[in-house]
Amino acid sequence: MSEFLTIALTKGRLAYRTLELLEKVGITCQEMKDKQSRKLIFVNEELGVRFFLAKANDVPTYVEYGAADIGICGKDTILEEGRKLYEVLDLGFGRCRMCVCGPESARELLRHHELIRVATKYPAIAKDYFYNKKHQTVEIIKLNGSIELAPLVGLAEVIVDIVETGSTLRENGLEVLEEICPLSARVIINQVSMKRENQRITKLIRDLKKIYKEDMA
Ligand code: PRP
Repeated sequence: MSEFLTIALTKGRLAYRTLELLEKVGITCQEMKDKQSRKLIFVNEELGVRFFLAKANDVPTYVEYGAADIGICGKDTILEEGRKLYEVLDLGFGRCRMCVCGPESARELLRHHELIRVATKYPAIAKDYFYNKKHQTVEIIKLNGSIELAPLVGLAEVIVDIVETGSTLRENGLEVLEEICPLSARVIINQVSMKRENQRITKLIRDLKKIYKEDMA
């Protein structure tokens, strides 16, 4: 591992919120704010920190293998990827819920433990929920986006997906049928880095916690 502390951020909305937060604890990266830039790695030589942006699902992979010491990603990704790493802090933003959704008519199918088809971008979360928590046998169909389409066109009876404001569901005549778990942005740490870079990482976590508490107050 390099002497730089490497932080993997999730591309998109989470990245901007994360950068704002890091700025508040004195970790800045001016270069990264340029939305036109195609650069992948950003360095703050002075602080000995470097950042990179990755697809959500890949952030836990970079962290498990130590290519990043620290990662910031959604709880959904952590659950789905099931990587070996430490989850150390809930940052409190990016709040949403993982839910089973569908048309009102699917409520009965769930209640009677019928063999239904479940479309989702999160097969591991869906499998864990139906098999281990509900003890219901289902057929899981993996999709990559616009999951709400599945029940509308007859691909599946229900979906397991993220609900934030609920407007995608409402606009498509679907509703939350069961809630699986709450989600938000989390800080994850590589298990070896936690030992090797303990002082720097512990300080960062402490500073972030302080900011979080101030923001909540
Ligand atoms: C997510 C999620 C829902 C939507 C929920 O999709 O999969 O479709 O947001 O948000 P809402 O409750 O505020 O309407 P995203 O926009 O990430 O794209 P995707 O459909 O490609 O997964």
